[in-house]
Amino acid sequence: MKKNQTHISEFLLLGLPIQPENQNLFCALFLVMYLTTILGNLLIIVLICLDSHLHTPMYLFLRNLSFSDLCFSCVTMPKLLQNMQSPVPSIPCLTQIYFFIFFGHLGNFILVAMAYDGYVAICFLLHYTTIMSPKLCLSLVVFSWVLTTFYSLLHTLLLPRLSFCADNVIPHFFCEISALLKLACSDTRVNELVILVVGGIFAVIPFLLILLSYTKIMSSILKVPSARGIYKVFSTCGSHLSVVSLFYGTIIGLYLCPSANNSTVKDTVMALMYTVVTPMLNPFIYSLRNRDIKGALRRVLCRKKILF
Ligand SMILES: *[C@@H]1O[C@H](CO)[C@@H](O)[C@H](O)[C@H]1NC(C)=O
Repeated sequence: MKKNQTHISEFLLLGLPIQPENQNLFCALFLVMYLTTILGNLLIIVLICLDSHLHTPMYLFLRNLSFSDLCFSCVTMPKLLQNMQSPVPSIPCLTQIYFFIFFGHLGNFILVAMAYDGYVAICFLLHYTTIMSPKLCLSLVVFSWVLTTFYSLLHTLLLPRLSFCADNVIPHFFCEISALLKLACSDTRVNELVILVVGGIFAVIPFLLILLSYTKIMSSILKVPSARGIYKVFSTCGSHLSVVSLFYGTIIGLYLCPSANNSTVKDTVMALMYTVVTPMLNPFIYSLRNRDIKGALRRVLCRKKILF
């Protein structure tokens, strides 16, 4: 073993490429976004737990999505905020990479389950309760957990075999796996191949399944065009699809078409999109505009009023 090797647990994060005079402004902005993410997702989880009207597959999946978004933002945001106050604290990189990949992909699989649920609800309305049985819902969730565990373990277990030399500063605001690979001084071809092939499969297949479900939903609603139906398609599917595209667009742009030159600013902005913005927007887009959720909120608040 060479003396100057860095152990994989001793990395420092460079943080965001922000001018020092803007540091406080951005810190406040990210703090507000982090709190919004936590509160929005917690509200969804609590509401769905409290209101028995919402114990349907769609809302149980939504609760899973909120749980996964909540954990996902807790993986990166606290360190990001801490890093903006006092620079470069060292960070357990492997743990962060594991949970980052885990909760990032768990959310994707839940989105697929939600898209499938919407597809069954609209295209097989009469058979909905038999198809989306509690057993199937639970299987979909368990399957997502198993698959994402396998996938994040695969990425994480391939890292300790690399050796790292003097440079241990990651030019990023979290332990990003491809930024970490750039610092390695041993051969990273296997890791890159796994990211490209397995990562590509794990990113593209859920995206295609979601697109397929929404295409079926749209075509089935547009077959019997009515002003209300069309409005519903564009308001619901449109907002879902925009979040899904934002998430997948940035992921695919970052991992499958990595920039050859070191354009870290572009990469950072794109990474911020899927680590900070999508977990914050998900609860609003998927639920707070939704009539059932508003009804549940009203019922829960009224019940509280009666109790006190
Ligand atoms: C996730 O979904 C399953 C199946 O619908 C449900 O049983 C479980 O309670 C959900 N988990 C969370 C954390 O919401």
